[in-house]
Amino acid sequence: METVTNKYVVTTSNIDGAPNESNFAICEQVVSLKVLRQPAGEGSDIVVVVKNMYVSIDPYQINRMKSYSCSQGTVSAAAALLPGQAINASGVGRVVGSTHPEFKEGDLVSGALIWGEYTLVKGISLQWLQKLDTNLSFPLSYFAGGVLGSSGLTAYGGFFKVCKPKKGDKVFVFAASGSVGSLVGQYAKLFGCYVVGCAGTKQKVDLLKDELGFDDAFNYKQETDLNSALKRYFPEGIDIYFDNVGGEMLEAAINNMNVFGRVSLCGVISEYTDDSKRAKPDMVAVVYKRIKIEGFLSVDFMDIYQEYISTTIIYLQTGELKAVEDISDGLDSIPTAFVDLFRGNNVGKKIVRISQD
Ligand SMILES: NC(=O)c1ccc[n+]([C@@H]2O[C@H](COP(=O)([O-])OP(=O)(O)OC[C@H]3O[C@@H](n4cnc5c(N)ncnc54)[C@H](OP(=O)(O)O)[C@@H]3O)[C@@H](O)[C@H]2O)c1
Repeated sequence: METVTNKYVVTTSNIDGAPNESNFAICEQVVSLKVLRQPAGEGSDIVVVVKNMYVSIDPYQINRMKSYSCSQGTVSAAAALLPGQAINASGVGRVVGSTHPEFKEGDLVSGALIWGEYTLVKGISLQWLQKLDTNLSFPLSYFAGGVLGSSGLTAYGGFFKVCKPKKGDKVFVFAASGSVGSLVGQYAKLFGCYVVGCAGTKQKVDLLKDELGFDDAFNYKQETDLNSALKRYFPEGIDIYFDNVGGEMLEAAINNMNVFGRVSLCGVISEYTDDSKRAKPDMVAVVYKRIKIEGFLSVDFMDIYQEYISTTIIYLQTGELKAVEDISDGLDSIPTAFVDLFRGNNVGKKIVRISQD
């Protein structure tokens, strides 16, 4: 096989509101593998060609697709995406060509791939490329931005480093059945906290209570007054709020926080597609209750990466931690998989399987 035709997903224009499938198209490009079978000559680019197997579908990509978002100038992973440009994302695949001395054909790798069939990994993206430890008998999908990828690190670091929990703390998690939220709730339970989650369907609420060990859970779409719902679930107040959503639930959570409460702002998905949802928390409550509100990015937690990965591997091996995944098949399913995040149609980590070998 000297050349392959690479199909990949692009946006057709900037997306400044809620995304839909018509915002996306599939492009094709011919990739030569021949040159990649030789070692890189002096001065030539080092390239690793990866046949993509699993790619991660993440809400933050919407902020890259906008004509403007303040997030775009912060870290390289959040850089603006131009219409027609390949969309980089976490993923797992197999090396099919390489001029890199440390990667050879057949290696299984994780790193910054694209929403496509193949990725030419080069330049700065090479620093994220990692060979997978094939002795670990976990599904490969776990490494595609899920429990053993960025969602896991986000949940672990966001909970332990930002929330600084104490045993017995009362913890509230929004979007609790999602990729990050489902892990936060489980880490918090394993640590010894009292945990209530909320989510948008009965199926998700049942999952939290019956399978993931949350102490309680509720469907926010069935509550007419979020403030009084939180009073019902937390009669003694909230010590930690892990926010994935922003908007009116952040306002209600602030109203129900205890003194010296901690709010970790992981994401504000309700605001990504609708500026009018922007939260206006009661700042007098923040001052007088001495509430700490802290935003963060998973890249801030590289110093605790080893602690996170070894702890999480043990929890997975003992069965104390469950990885909830929602996998769609085929490159063509990527636009719907992405749009579904904003419609609440995913349960757990959203991943697309591009190929099996
Ligand atoms: N800071 C970081 O480094 C970092 C890293 C990863 C993720 N994040 C952020 O963490 C959050 C969760 O990400 P994830 O990957 O774990 O996604 P996810 O929770 O697996 O999927 C998104 C979920 O959000 C909920 N949702 C969507 N629109 C909503 C709305 N308007 N109001 C309320 N809920 C809504 C839906 O669940 P329901 O059915 O329950 O509504 C949906 O299933 C996002 O805000 C994301 O940007 C941040």
